[in-house]
Amino acid sequence: MNERIGIVGAGLIGRAWAIVFARAGCSVAIHDSAPETLAACRTLLRDNVSDLAQHDLISETPDTVLRRITPAATLAEALKGAALVQENVRETLEAKQAIFAEMDRLTGHETILASSTSWIPASSFSAALAGRGRIMVGHPVNPPYLVPLVELAPAPWTTPDAVERARDLYARAGQTPVLLKKEITGFLLNRIQGAVLNEALNLYAGGYASIEDLDKVMKDGLGMRWSFMGPFETIDLNAPGGVIDYAARYGKAYRDVACEQAGNDWDPELLARIHAERRAALPVAQMGERSRWRDNRLMALVAHKRKRVS
Ligand SMILES: NC(=O)c1ccc[n+]([C@@H]2O[C@H](COP(=O)([O-])OP(=O)(O)OC[C@H]3O[C@@H](n4cnc5c(N)ncnc54)[C@H](O)[C@@H]3O)[C@@H](O)[C@H]2O)c1
Repeated sequence: MNERIGIVGAGLIGRAWAIVFARAGCSVAIHDSAPETLAACRTLLRDNVSDLAQHDLISETPDTVLRRITPAATLAEALKGAALVQENVRETLEAKQAIFAEMDRLTGHETILASSTSWIPASSFSAALAGRGRIMVGHPVNPPYLVPLVELAPAPWTTPDAVERARDLYARAGQTPVLLKKEITGFLLNRIQGAVLNEALNLYAGGYASIEDLDKVMKDGLGMRWSFMGPFETIDLNAPGGVIDYAARYGKAYRDVACEQAGNDWDPELLARIHAERRAALPVAQMGERSRWRDNRLMALVAHKRKRVS
């Protein structure tokens, strides 16, 4: 693909999006309001793209990919001629409202304006804008050049044509777009992650298991299948007669458990206990090294998943 893409905000997520689109062949202009962040960007991008090359996750040289990414000193320069602008500034409603008002003024209505926001619905920062029909959320998972999911969450007034064009752009860039049919806080991924986290916190607080064992339930249990099939396909295959058969066997148990599954108020004392256990297992000084280990495991998993036949 050879579209022009504008990236606004050159922090963790903005840089990662730049890699996604440059790797797919796009010309990417990246802008940050902090000149020092923009200046630091090149080295950080080089590190990430070199890691991808080491895991055979790019088909060109790092230099070829990096050459497609140009720093833009002004917002207007980053937006010029863009088919899609991906916004990645800080996560406050005021920041999103201000940047979208400015981007709406600076671009023609054919340009898609998408926000990486994790929690803020598009309707809350686009309602008053003339070009609101092309504004939506395109929520990535960190880092999007390794985890392909992007949640498309349009506002009620986003046009179907704009959603379809965004879906097509993300898909051609190698991402996996999913559509939120109507707005809800947390979109899809963070609601599901929240349900798991709340239950894990409750099980720990109730003294049912250690943190280490609760993490194992996911990494050596549920997560094994969930990295290549979702919960619905999982239950469909877990009873000989499919979903209906599974529900007949286990539905009552899940209904009973659901009655016991309360929310969790994220009590600071509980979180402090968990934090202390985590720091005993992983001292602060080792967190950077462990994060790098995680990213490398993720790259190996991506390489493995690319070999799948369907
Ligand atoms: N970090 C994650 O895991 C993650 C995952 C998914 C989505 N997101 C979302 O992505 C967005 C960015 O998060 P991040 O982690 O990259 O934050 P970050 O703090 O690393 O980066 C934000 C960048 O935006 C720049 N900025 C602020 N105002 C600006 C403006 N008006 N114009 C241009 N640049 C501006 C800042 O200088 C900073 O470099 C947030 O909305 C966040 O919720 C984050």
